[in-house]
Amino acid sequence: MKPSATTPAALVIFGATGDLAQHMLLPALYHLESEGLLPEKFAIVGIFRREPDVTEIIQEAEIQLLRSHSEVDLDVLAKLKARIHTVKMDSTNPDHFKLLAAKLRELDKIAEVKLNHLFYLAIPPSIFKSVIGNLASAGLNGSKNDDRESRILVEKPFGDDYDSAKDLIAFMSEHFEEKQIFRIDHYLAKETAQNILTFRFNNPLIEGMWSRQFIDHIQITAIEKIGIMGRAAFYENIGALRDFVQSHLMQLMALVMMEYPEDLTSEAIHREKLLLLESIEQIAPKHVEDIAVRGQYEGYTDEVEKPDSTVETFAALKLEVANSRWGGVPVLLRTGKSTATKATEIVVAFKDRTRRSISDNLLIIRIQPNEGISLKLLAKKPGFTAEVQPVQMEFCYSGTFDGHQPDAYQRVFMDAMRGDQSLFATSAEVMASWKLLQPVLDAWKLSDVPPEVYKEGSWGPSGSEQLAQNFGTNWVNDSQHVCPKHPAPEQ
Ligand code: BG6
Repeated sequence: MKPSATTPAALVIFGATGDLAQHMLLPALYHLESEGLLPEKFAIVGIFRREPDVTEIIQEAEIQLLRSHSEVDLDVLAKLKARIHTVKMDSTNPDHFKLLAAKLRELDKIAEVKLNHLFYLAIPPSIFKSVIGNLASAGLNGSKNDDRESRILVEKPFGDDYDSAKDLIAFMSEHFEEKQIFRIDHYLAKETAQNILTFRFNNPLIEGMWSRQFIDHIQITAIEKIGIMGRAAFYENIGALRDFVQSHLMQLMALVMMEYPEDLTSEAIHREKLLLLESIEQIAPKHVEDIAVRGQYEGYTDEVEKPDSTVETFAALKLEVANSRWGGVPVLLRTGKSTATKATEIVVAFKDRTRRSISDNLLIIRIQPNEGISLKLLAKKPGFTAEVQPVQMEFCYSGTFDGHQPDAYQRVFMDAMRGDQSLFATSAEVMASWKLLQPVLDAWKLSDVPPEVYKEGSWGPSGSEQLAQNFGTNWVNDSQHVCPKHPAPEQ
């Protein structure tokens, strides 16, 4: 079923020439265009600091589409190009916002309707506040008398620690209402992440086993084969904990472990996710080194040209949810760049009642690539002995569902156009996550032990394996065998 038609809108992209816009946003808009999902009256306004060149950004988008093995229909690309308008301005200069306001008025005239406004901040966090303040001063934050919707979409990381996030939330709330703010965590918009709740709550078999009574521990992994891809300035201010753990991994953990919401409305889901995040046991500063490990891939310091950089490109953490359902179940999280493979997956290890290995009884939710769900069980081997053999039952997206799966950014755009905040992070969730991780950030900042160096193409530092062993397990590293018949394109 096609989603309902969306209202006329202008999407303003701050950072139109950046990596995110070219590698993710424009390709996602291309797919929406090709599927006829963009409103007829829909304009894209690219904000350029230098002389705008629409042909160049369209060519970049085309290269990206080809790289991701999409077929490129030149007519669709031309249609998308025709929607793009440009404003050359400095987003940190309040006066320049008059140019943007004028462009938006002009687009209203062309469309003969008041277009909704979507402001997408695909820019470094260091200039978020300046752009937000400037939008408000130019009257572009949707005043009460303005009979159109104005929404702002903000890329993560939202703040860079607890205090800065709190400050940013307070600042934004002076200029935009919560219902106008869409804090993007594109992992929440992945099809397979959305399926977590359906899988848990629509299958009594799973729902019945979902507790400390049957589950030994949980592992959540999001690793990438790629390194920082030349984004030295960005990454040096971020590191793996802020880039992935604070957002993507904490959100996945909340989906996997939250209680059943009263209903499936955005509010009820957010309420339960928050309760879960707030139930995670706080980390005592003196215990940071027992539950957190950081690593850095070999060659990173040369790449960023900073021989003494201690920025982590890998982080592993053990957490625990202190409630009656989960108390005593270790939750292991890990993320890293330049590792053996690209994989995001959740491994649920069941308790060993047969005195065999825990790895014989696993449920693997494969978020990407080779999306699917696999259950490892034990079966009697045919024959005259009682020999038991591990077997695998699996469901793969590819081969089960026909057609193209919308990618995460397509979903981000569709939901933002429709005003649906279900798959965006609330300010309270963001704060709960920063609060939890702050002791780790503080300890790593003060530590004189640098991150452990690991080899490119490995599974991260040896400390990560040691961490898992300290909590009675090993990381499951072989699950790229889930849905192997349908491999996704290499990263
Ligand atoms: C982003 C991170 O949120 O996710 C990047 O900032 C990372 O560092 C990217 O490369 C990975 O996204 P995906 O969808 O390819 O797993």
